[in-house]
Amino acid sequence: MLVNGSPHTTLCYQAQQRSVAIIDQTLLPHHFKIIHLSKTEDFCHAISAMQVRGAPLIGVTAAFGLALALQQDASAEHEEKVARQLLATRPTAVNLQWAIERIRAAIKDITESQRAVIALQEAEFIRQQDIASCNAIGQYGESLLNKLYQQKAPGQTLNILTHCNAGWLATIDWGTALAPIYKAQQAGIPIHVWVDETRPRNQGASLTAWELQQQGIDHTVIADNTGGHLMQHGQVDLCIVGTDRTTASGDVCNKIGTYLKALAAKANNIPFYVALPSSTIDWSIDDGIQDIPIEQRSSRELTHISGIDTDGKLREVKLIANSKTANYAFDVTPAKYISGLITEQGIYQADKQSLNALKQKLFTV
Ligand code: MRU
Repeated sequence: MLVNGSPHTTLCYQAQQRSVAIIDQTLLPHHFKIIHLSKTEDFCHAISAMQVRGAPLIGVTAAFGLALALQQDASAEHEEKVARQLLATRPTAVNLQWAIERIRAAIKDITESQRAVIALQEAEFIRQQDIASCNAIGQYGESLLNKLYQQKAPGQTLNILTHCNAGWLATIDWGTALAPIYKAQQAGIPIHVWVDETRPRNQGASLTAWELQQQGIDHTVIADNTGGHLMQHGQVDLCIVGTDRTTASGDVCNKIGTYLKALAAKANNIPFYVALPSSTIDWSIDDGIQDIPIEQRSSRELTHISGIDTDGKLREVKLIANSKTANYAFDVTPAKYISGLITEQGIYQADKQSLNALKQKLFTV
């Protein structure tokens, strides 16, 4: 997608430097800076410090992290050690585990001299697949948005609420929840997006708003508690969010606060959709509340906040004095509150039967 009018992706391999170029998302929206990752520690830090974040992008980053580590030492012991280090960076997004397993499966029966080459090919394949999946999610989602737009009075704008950042910055390109919005813009559907600021890290205010602005899409940033009020007053036509892990029965784990938006949407008869590549489905679990590990992050994310000061410098200030804090990064929205799952294979009901049909489609050769 566009940055200052030029097309960009979030991550690409640079063969000459044997490194991976990423956008340091901790500096957005104030600074657009590309940084390079080559050592395993760089990759682990980039994921845990959230220089890269968003389930699909975390997965692709880990895939390249493992592939590049094998260029230094292609032994099975090193593979195991690096896989563990990468897996320990963030616990909730299942794409991390999925991508590492994909690389390990690809090199399982490969001779040591060829393992790094094959791993790198697989990492690039995962990257390309992510772009294709998000493009398809965008197309399926756009037809849904078009249907809802046709139901509105002529000339009215379609109002969509989103939470966190599930745009191209959370993937390689297009995004998940924002892909249908980008496709709808291309199709000429008038759109306005309500952007939840998404405390404590403000992925909505810092990343989603920046993306939409770069793309020329009308949007308004709102405090996290505003959505329910807007829904009661007919100002939201639908909600679309992303997910970090979805169970085989359709429970959705996403950024903290998603559940409350789903409850408000249900109470106001507003469709609540989740957009995801099928790599975000954890087929091994059914009960999201019981089975999904919820990351708890540093209290500093709550107690401090950063932004541009009057002298133009990026500064961090303290917000909370001496109270205890709890910083749960994700919550689970039970399947019954979800209107549908927009995947690269089409739109599925959030229930076991419908997801079983998707599983058959994906895994039957
Ligand atoms: O903590 P983050 O910023 O990695 O959380 C990201 C989200 O919750 C996204 O909504 C989710 O990963 C879906 S992204 C396509």
